[in-house]
Amino acid sequence: MNTTDDLPLAGRVAVVSGAGAGLGRAHARTLAAMGASVVINDLPVPSDADPGVTIAEAVAAEIRAVGGAAIAVHASVADAGAGERIVEKAIDAFSRVDIVVNNAGILRDGPLRKRDRADWEAVIGVHVHGAYELTRAAWPYMLDAGFGRVVVTSSAAGIYGTANNASYGTAKMGVVGMARMLAAEAAGTDINVNAIAPLALTAMSSSGGDRDRAADVIGDLFQRMPAEQVSQTVGWLCHPDCDVTGRIFAVGGGRVAEVLVTETRGWVRPGHTWRDVRDNWDSVTDRGELHVPVHISDELQLFMAVLG
Ligand SMILES: NC(=O)c1ccc[n+]([C@@H]2O[C@H](COP(=O)([O-])OP(=O)(O)OC[C@H]3O[C@@H](n4cnc5c(N)ncnc54)[C@H](O)[C@@H]3O)[C@@H](O)[C@H]2O)c1
Repeated sequence: MNTTDDLPLAGRVAVVSGAGAGLGRAHARTLAAMGASVVINDLPVPSDADPGVTIAEAVAAEIRAVGGAAIAVHASVADAGAGERIVEKAIDAFSRVDIVVNNAGILRDGPLRKRDRADWEAVIGVHVHGAYELTRAAWPYMLDAGFGRVVVTSSAAGIYGTANNASYGTAKMGVVGMARMLAAEAAGTDINVNAIAPLALTAMSSSGGDRDRAADVIGDLFQRMPAEQVSQTVGWLCHPDCDVTGRIFAVGGGRVAEVLVTETRGWVRPGHTWRDVRDNWDSVTDRGELHVPVHISDELQLFMAVLG
């Protein structure tokens, strides 16, 4: 592929879900600026600036206006078969799919006792089924080409937990599991799957519970966290030279950090009872020796080392 350092994604095709606004729009524009042809997926929501076009069409037009290649594809990623339909449009327009950024998202805030099955399914539908839909549809093309970059969008809300948002947190850790599993499934290929946990000022983060939570903790700093700053990390994770896979990154406001899962060394007494667990709780949770397994084999090694 004829790429340059300015256009490292020249000849590549990216599909970004929820790309009509917020982080998705910024990711799409960044990938296009890196040379990718971009499929802008979103719901058929009219643009505020021009109600004659949808938000997805408006972003595609912005990209084309600066010489990029983009098409809009309207679909809810939550719908069964949506991934196939979106990827089919990508193939029709650009003949390949190299990159999938699973970004579309919604919130249904509220305490569990006030939420019902429909709320739960709506949230899991967009984040988890949506990520499945697009990734599953693009996966065979990536396998055939021997190249692929997939990014899923997690959230600190799911990783660390927040009140009154159980469906969202479940979905956001669900996609982390998906990224780690697919990274393992694609081991040995040039197909990488990573998760980001972004922080940026968008319509979602400036409404409802997220706004209150973020504003409570970081106040005005939130105003200095543009979506574009998150997209630079997405751009690197989608770069052909980037060999990172199965990892999670916290990104926002100019900060990029890796989120790690750690285990204490743990306490060992074969045949112990629950009373022993209670009585040795300080040893179970002692953080004096922390381990950071990256692969499941690392964790199995830890069991073997500690159990001796
Ligand atoms: N903004 C933050 O600080 C933050 C923090 C953590 C996680 N996230 C995650 O980042 C992603 C983007 O969020 P954002 O802040 O840009 O939100 P946003 O509300 O500004 O944008 C989300 C976009 O997804 C689209 N969308 C919703 N349902 C869809 C569906 N079924 N099919 C296709 N598109 C759909 C919306 O129309 C919208 O354009 C989400 O997954 C969100 O959970 C954001």
